[in-house]
Amino acid sequence: MRVLIFDNHQEASDAAANIVAEQLNAKPDSVLGLATGSSPVALYERLIEKHRSEGLDFSLVTTFNLDEYIGLSKSDPQSYHAFMHQHLFDYINIAEQNIYLPSGTSENYRAFCQWYEKQIVLAGGIDLQVLGIGTDGHIAFNEPGSSLGSRTRIKTLAEQTRKDNARYFDSVDDVPHYAITMGVGTILEARKILLLAKGKKKAAAIREAVEGPVTAMNTASALQLHPDATLLLDRKAAEELSLKDYFLEIQKKEPKAP
Ligand code: F6R
Repeated sequence: MRVLIFDNHQEASDAAANIVAEQLNAKPDSVLGLATGSSPVALYERLIEKHRSEGLDFSLVTTFNLDEYIGLSKSDPQSYHAFMHQHLFDYINIAEQNIYLPSGTSENYRAFCQWYEKQIVLAGGIDLQVLGIGTDGHIAFNEPGSSLGSRTRIKTLAEQTRKDNARYFDSVDDVPHYAITMGVGTILEARKILLLAKGKKKAAAIREAVEGPVTAMNTASALQLHPDATLLLDRKAAEELSLKDYFLEIQKKEPKAP
C-alpha cells in the first residue's frame, strides 16, 4: 500500500488525475473502474480539464462503475448513472457503448451480476480502479461484514451509509436500502487501485484500513493485500495514522529512492 498525504483534497485529486492520464497515455484503450460520491468529483473535474486543454483521449476507454442504488432508474437524478453523466461522461469523448454501470432496475439481478462480471473479463479486466471510502470503511458498497472474496451482488446498505448519503436526497427515508455493488474480490482483481479520501470524518476508517488488520469489518483494509494500491489523502483524512510522518518522509524521498 502506498500512502500519499497532501495539504488538501485538490492536490490529492490533481495527483490522481496525473496517474489516470499516465495510464491512458500508456494504454489508450484502458479499462477504468469508477466511483461516485463526493471523493472523486475533483478528480473528474481535472480529467475534464485535461481532456479540453491537453487532448486527453477517452475515445477507446471502457469504464465500469462500482455500484448503483436498487430501485433507481438511469434517468433518476439521484442515480449513479445520472451522477456519472453529470460529473464526467457528458464532458469527455467516451463512447456511450463503452460505459458500463450496474443496473438498479433489473428483472433478474442474479443474472445481471453474472453478466456484469463477465463484461469486465471480456473487456480484459480493470486496469485502474478509482475508489472512495465510507465512514465505516466500505469500498464500493461492501459494508462491514462483507466477504473479502465477494463478487458483484446486492448488498443491504448499513444505516450509517444511508445517513451519510442522505445529503443527496430530500430525506434519509428516500435513501434506498439496497445497492448492487462490485465485490471486494472483483475490486482486488484491478491491476492498479487509487483510493481518494478527504476530511476528518474519514480519518478513523483510513487508520483501520491502513494500520489495522485485514478484516471484513473494514473492507478497505483488503487493499493491504493488493500489489499496486495507492491512497491519496488530504491531511485531515491522514490525521489518525500513527505512521503519518513515515509516509510523509517516504513521499519526500521517493523521487530520489533507488
Ligand atoms: C460510490 C462508492 C462508495 C463511496 C463512499 C464514499 O460509488 O463506491 O464507496 O466511495 O461511500 O462516499 P463519499 O465520497 O461521498 O464520501
